[in-house]
Amino acid sequence: MDEVRLRPASLADYVGQRRLKRKLEVYLGAARDRGEALDHVLLYGPPGLGKTTLAHIIAAELGVGIRVTSGPAIEKPGDLAAILTNSLEPGDVLFIDEIHRLGRVAEEHLYPAMEDFKIDIVLGQGPAARSIRLELPRFTLVGATTRPGLITGPLRSRFGIIEHLDYYSDADLAQSVTVDARELGYGLSAEAALEIGRRSRGTMRIAKRLLRRVRDYAQMAGEEAIDASRAKLALDALDIDDAGLDRRDRAILGALVERFAGGPVGLDTLATAVSEDRATLEEVYEPFLIQRGLLVRTPRGRMATPATYHHLGLSAPPSQAAPLFSGEPESRA
Ligand SMILES: Nc1ncnc2c1ncn2[C@@H]1O[C@H](COP(=O)(O)OP(=O)(O)OP(=O)(O)O)[C@@H](O)[C@H]1O
Ligand SMILES: [Mg+2]
Repeated sequence: MDEVRLRPASLADYVGQRRLKRKLEVYLGAARDRGEALDHVLLYGPPGLGKTTLAHIIAAELGVGIRVTSGPAIEKPGDLAAILTNSLEPGDVLFIDEIHRLGRVAEEHLYPAMEDFKIDIVLGQGPAARSIRLELPRFTLVGATTRPGLITGPLRSRFGIIEHLDYYSDADLAQSVTVDARELGYGLSAEAALEIGRRSRGTMRIAKRLLRRVRDYAQMAGEEAIDASRAKLALDALDIDDAGLDRRDRAILGALVERFAGGPVGLDTLATAVSEDRATLEEVYEPFLIQRGLLVRTPRGRMATPATYHHLGLSAPPSQAAPLFSGEPESRA
């Protein structure tokens, strides 16, 4: 049983994100009533919150086809032209994942495609080369990114719908894993579901992964109903603490507090100290730590907070004043 089988197929089955769902219901309904393609949609937010899933749901709710590609796959204008002129039917969704990684020239060709549904392609080479303009069907571009700050202004401004996905509440995560457990053929007590939700760092993908691992423990114990104590035992065995932090998270916070006296310390220095790649630290680990108030980005670097010390079971040094600045999503400090 893999992620794909556990993917919700309709907006009704998509758990949480209520604010976003309410808006999308209106936009989708209105586009359907008008018989027009939906405006282009940009979805952004941390990894594993359901951007890809939502792109598929948008196409399904509109009753249209979806073509899937990603920023890194579209390097040259020709790559883009090939996708846009092949097999896109009127109203279809073109999903570009990691859209912040589009090649710059390809991106410029995307502008007229988004705005006027036209694309210029160059035929031939050298002096004999000529450019022709192709008409495209009216399509809906759905772009997804974990790094909205890297989307250029001109690209961003061509999206009619720009929406952020939020971290999920523990209850939402619990609801989702309850549905999944049933699919997997296991009973899951309400308390066990909440225990998984609580330790999933607000992230759907993690909740689903933890459920499958907890299921493994239950299976090996010969249990078909997973209760809170089984869930707790399994999650402890996975080294995930009560706040959902794993060993890596704790190593990052530990380095910040013990080696850099709580900061401020630059991103690169911190990354090196924990042998992590800079982008992974910034995009995968930090957003959750920041969201939980365990780390702050300041103009002078990363800093611990009183909560960091508390989480690690240490007492905060007297100099550890409350931070003055909270995290800027794309701060380069
Ligand atoms: N709201 C939701 N309700 C139920 N399941 C969800 C929801 N959101 C995401 N999922 C599930 O969580 C997993 C991760 O979702 P998805 O791949 O869509 O995330 P993503 O935001 O595209 O992540 P990334 O940035 O890493 O590409 C999938 O198995 C998906 O089915
Ligand atoms: Mg995705």
